[in-house]
Amino acid sequence: MTPIRVGLLGLGTVGSGTVQVLKRNREEIARRAGREILITKATARNLAKPRDFDLDGIELVADAEQLVSDPNIDIVCELIGGDTTTKDLVLSAIAQGKHVVTANKALLAKHGTEIFAAALKARVIVAFEAAVAGGVPIIKTLREGLTANRIEWIAGIINGTSNYILSEMRSRGASFDTVLAEAQAKGYAEADPTFDIEGIDAAHKLTLLSAIAFGIPVQFDKAYTEGISKLTDKDIKYAEQLGYRIKLLGITRNTGHGIELRVHPTLIPAKRLIANVEGVMNAILVKGDAVGATLYYGRGAGSEATASAVVADLVDVTRMLTADPEHRVPHLAFQPDQLRDTPILPINEVETAYYLRLSAYDKPGVMADVTRVLADLDISIDAILQKEAEEGEDIVDVIILTHRAIEKRVDAAIARIEKLPTIAGKVVRVRLEELS
Ligand code: NDP
Ligand code: HSE
Repeated sequence: MTPIRVGLLGLGTVGSGTVQVLKRNREEIARRAGREILITKATARNLAKPRDFDLDGIELVADAEQLVSDPNIDIVCELIGGDTTTKDLVLSAIAQGKHVVTANKALLAKHGTEIFAAALKARVIVAFEAAVAGGVPIIKTLREGLTANRIEWIAGIINGTSNYILSEMRSRGASFDTVLAEAQAKGYAEADPTFDIEGIDAAHKLTLLSAIAFGIPVQFDKAYTEGISKLTDKDIKYAEQLGYRIKLLGITRNTGHGIELRVHPTLIPAKRLIANVEGVMNAILVKGDAVGATLYYGRGAGSEATASAVVADLVDVTRMLTADPEHRVPHLAFQPDQLRDTPILPINEVETAYYLRLSAYDKPGVMADVTRVLADLDISIDAILQKEAEEGEDIVDVIILTHRAIEKRVDAAIARIEKLPTIAGKVVRVRLEELS
């Protein structure tokens, strides 16, 4: 059989990994795919840049659009990133009847509806395993392995950079900026690292997971996003003392009256497996009604780990080339005409538990004031911890863990607590999930 010819857009972290994995495992991959998969052409922004990997047999072309339009290319593999140039390139490839493999979650989370509709019309595949959780095959798992289940919720560590930062800060007391620079040097971070730190990248990925899990359109604009940049060492330490770890979690849940879609730092019990996922590793807990809770773990970023998912998609597309489009696995797991418009809940309608840190004057009556506010708003307390005042200080930290409550009631309680004369300054709030 003639080889499948791939045109590669991008020769950076993931592009270089893809070239290397395909070359190194060429024979095994051909045995699995049924024919050879060759990158015949590639492009990058600066072709004069020295590359420390073997590009033999790959013709470098300056014009990405020309590569996409080349009739000798069967699959376009988009590993550039961003959602402007790439949107045009991907739509152009689709319009010309080319299958597309991409790792670009930003593109699909924002323009997935348009791109998947165009692909359906052109009867081509857009494969995107590498877009979520790097090398962990979570898209295939949700679309195929768990297809018997009604998915109840997903909670995942789906940004390697922020998990690396939190782990290194906690384990070796390194500073935020030092560890971020390390993550960038290792190729984990996005071109704009605020996407990692502020939870935007995780929200892109969660949007895709949620669409596949619940059969809804991709709706990144409705995701609630809060990152790790405002987390303090103090809260990481207090969480530990209470038996919790703080992780940046992406959580999506079908509540029956709407879907939660939220990314934020979250306290989780330290004894849970997922609380012990460190460094660049990702882990995704999926709760299905039939299978129960399942956990998927692996490298969430990096050159060859992500290439593993890209190449798996290239093999999948190659295997499916001869299948009727009607018999392919749908892009978002559900048949395109079966997507539902279940509403995404705003964050103030979400129900979860909370860690609240208050700075209180060390006087009698403080606890009574605070607990009265919580009781008035029907927020039940799980635990209270008052820290010793520092030498010469008259302000103490009080930590309250609540049971589950609707966020808008907690917002109202925080506003009232901050007005109490016994409380100094703002209340720190971190959401808490038992994940049991
Ligand atoms: P890099 O920045 O390392 O690589 C981007 C590549 O695209 C570079 O080779 C660059 O060229 C090229 N490029 C940039 N602009 C253009 C353009 N206009 N035309 C042609 N080529 C262009 O990014 P990554 O490899 O890290 O990421 C690629 C994609 O994979 C992104 O969507 C990212 O979100 C996703 N991803 C990344 C992971 C990771 O661990 N890094 C993991 C999972 C997904 P040049 O080399 O000349 O600068
Ligand atoms: N910047 C992303 C991360 C790359 O750190 O998880 C993988 O998608």
